[in-house]
Amino acid sequence: MRLELMTSPAVEAYLRTKPGIVIPVGATEQHGPDGLIGTDHLCAEAIARRFGEAHGVVVAPTIAYGMSQFHLGFAGTITLRPSTLIAMVHDIIASLAATGFTRLYILNGHGGNLAPVRSAVQEFYAALSLAGGKVPSPVHCRLKSWWEMPSADALRKTLYGEQEGYHATPSEVAITMASHPDHITPFERPAPRQPSHDGLLHAGDNYYDAADYKARYPDGRVISHSALATCEAGEKLIGLAADDLARDFAMFCAAT
Ligand code: NI
Repeated sequence: MRLELMTSPAVEAYLRTKPGIVIPVGATEQHGPDGLIGTDHLCAEAIARRFGEAHGVVVAPTIAYGMSQFHLGFAGTITLRPSTLIAMVHDIIASLAATGFTRLYILNGHGGNLAPVRSAVQEFYAALSLAGGKVPSPVHCRLKSWWEMPSADALRKTLYGEQEGYHATPSEVAITMASHPDHITPFERPAPRQPSHDGLLHAGDNYYDAADYKARYPDGRVISHSALATCEAGEKLIGLAADDLARDFAMFCAAT
């Protein structure tokens, strides 16, 4: 159930039976020579929509832009500043809370978004706390990246091992192949050069500026051998992640 395709009375009726919504968030940024610019938001969107359709849960319009400043050395990348993303996500959370949603599940597709999105959630709660509210807010937020979903995570490690890498991963490229089969580009590139310092920077997309990133990772990928991606793997990853999401979302909605 896509929020943008529902009427307001239909949303009101939904809220009488269910408290929750899934908000996919990703990025619009280079994904190496073979990956689509929209990979990060297309992955979160495909998984969220698969889950939403199967379980009758509302899915918000995808937040297609993220914090991607370190990819600006590559054409097609669009970034929000961290402060812009914090403000945007905060306003979306506050709007959904104001209109009756009480379980807001943010499904993330880009590591660089994690810190700003966590900050946005805390901005929302900070406003309530600073106002001196004595009654606990009924609004709960949860942030999870799709690759943390346990079954999907196990499959990507089994399929690709170390060649999964950290950016333009074969698993994320596979998901876009399955979700957008009309936009599969031919793979012509070998595995990217292995950076010598790969243990230092990649965790949590903790990169420096765009010029630094491009000098370190000239073809845009970070270890990831994206040419290993297949449509079949992508379909399995979407299905497993959507099933994992269903379990996690049910627990989240049931928790007090
Ligand atoms: Ni990505």
